[in-house]
This record gives sequence, structure tokens and C-alpha cells, in this order.
Amino acid sequence: MGSERVALVTGAAGGLGQEFCVALAERGYRVAGLDVADLTETGERAGGSFLGIQADVTDRTAVAAAVEAVIGHHGHLHIVVNNAGIYPAMPFEETTIEDWRRVMRLNLEGPFIVTQAALPHLRAAGWGRVVNIVSAVVFLGPPDMVAYTTSKAGLVGFTRALAGAVGEDGITVNAIAPGLTSTATAARTVGADGGFERVRDLQVIPRVEAPGDLVSTLAYVCDEGSGFLTGQTINVDGGSAMH
Ligand SMILES: NC(=O)c1ccc[n+]([C@@H]2O[C@H](COP(=O)([O-])OP(=O)(O)OC[C@H]3O[C@@H](n4cnc5c(N)ncnc54)[C@H](O)[C@@H]3O)[C@@H](O)[C@H]2O)c1
Repeated sequence: MGSERVALVTGAAGGLGQEFCVALAERGYRVAGLDVADLTETGERAGGSFLGIQADVTDRTAVAAAVEAVIGHHGHLHIVVNNAGIYPAMPFEETTIEDWRRVMRLNLEGPFIVTQAALPHLRAAGWGRVVNIVSAVVFLGPPDMVAYTTSKAGLVGFTRALAGAVGEDGITVNAIAPGLTSTATAARTVGADGGFERVRDLQVIPRVEAPGDLVSTLAYVCDEGSGFLTGQTINVDGGSAMH
């Protein structure tokens, strides 16, 4: 059944988003990836029918055109993975209003814009999956990530309320919360200066999380048999937060 479903993944040029594109393509989904950055590498890894679209998730016109491009290329749209996001660490007192808005705009407005543009196609198909990538920070609340934690907690609220708004249409809405995961961006930022090791030591599974650790949960949420799973936040962080 996977091969009949079409997925759009945001933030697909690298990191988790690229891994999600490759994993979905391997499982037979037809995949489109959206990113402000170049998607050539993702296309090479995902292969076959992958469609890469260079666009900004905060630009409503560009996102509308991107969704139409997905329909033009794949014919349908069933799955939206809202993955594009930024996670700057900064002391709360030094956080400017511009910093705050930048985080909210990408991490919260982005999923709103992309999901709203995609939804008519999920409704038309009578089947859909919206998957929001949040973070274990929503359970842990790290003090140097107030803006980020607030944005991802907002995305948890979005997940719950939207699940209620689309439940009658065969569409589920769930969130996946990774712990600190070894992507290039994480290595440059929160993972630097021993960050990976500090987080690893908070986990009950004593190794650094890899992008591949999230794939089975994405596949589970998207599965045909998961139509009764909605409004949930699934925490995949090696057990550093338990809820
Ligand atoms: N890596 C981690 O440790 C970790 C942990 C928890 C949650 N997350 C979340 O997972 C997601 C991916 O994280 P990652 O580590 O893979 O980061 P990443 O930086 O590798 O990937 C994010 C992608 O989003 C793209 N992007 C940025 N702004 C965009 C915009 N305006 N429009 C479209 N694309 C845009 C970037 O070009 C990049 O390719 C983020 O939402 C992040 O908050 C990551």
C-alpha cells in the first residue's frame, strides 16, 4: 500500500528530513522534499520518483506552488512531515524579539502554512497523516532553549487541536519528539563541546541518537494500520524523558 501514498517532507535537504525521505522512499512511498537549501543529495539518496522543491516554508505563495508541484508530479498528496526547524540555544535574557520571532516563524508558522496548503488534498483523498517533528525538550525544558521549547510545545498543541479538526476525514495528526540526534546541525550547535555526551548520560540507552532511530516511529505513524492513533506525541529519546 505504501507505494500508493505520497509524502511531502519539509527541511529535506539534510539531517532528519533527508533520512525521512530516504526511509519513506525505501518503503515504497512516493516522496517530495521541500527545503530552502539544495536537495540534490536527497534526490540521489531517495532515488526514483523523488521530487525536490526549493522553497521557504514560511512563504505562503511558494508553499502553495510547491504543493501544486507535488500534485503535478505525483498526482496526490497523503502525508505531510513538518520537519523544517531551527533550534538555537541562547540565554533567555539575551533573546531578542527578532530571535524569538525567527524561531516561532519557522517552527510554528511553517507547519501551519504547509499543513493548511496540503490539507485539501488529504481531505480529497479521504486519508492522511500529518506528522510534526517536535523535540524531547517539550518534556525536559532546557533553560537555554526557552524560545525553541516554546515553539515545539506550541507544535504539540497544534498536533492535538488539529487532530480534532480533521479526525472525521480519515486524517491523523501526531508528533514525534526526538532527543538530541547526531545531524550536522546538531553537531555544530547543541552537540558541540561535549553536548552529545552530556545528553547521552541522561538517557537510559547509553549511546548517541542517530537519525535512523526515528525511522521506525515515522513508519509506524504513517502505517495504514495506525488510523486510530492521533493527537499523540511519541517521544523517541533513549529514555531521557519518560511520560
Ligand atoms: N537534531 C536534533 O538533535 C533534533 C532533536 C530534536 C528535534 N529536532 C528537530 O528535527 C528537525 C530537523 O532537525 P535537524 O537536526 O535535521 O536539522 P537540519 O538543520 O539538518 O535540518 C533542517 C532543515 O530545514 C531547512 N530549513 C531551514 N529553514 C527553512 C525554511 N524556512 N524553509 C524550508 N526549509 C528550511 C534547512 O535548510 C535544513 O535542511 C527540526 O525541526 C529540529 O527542531 C532535531
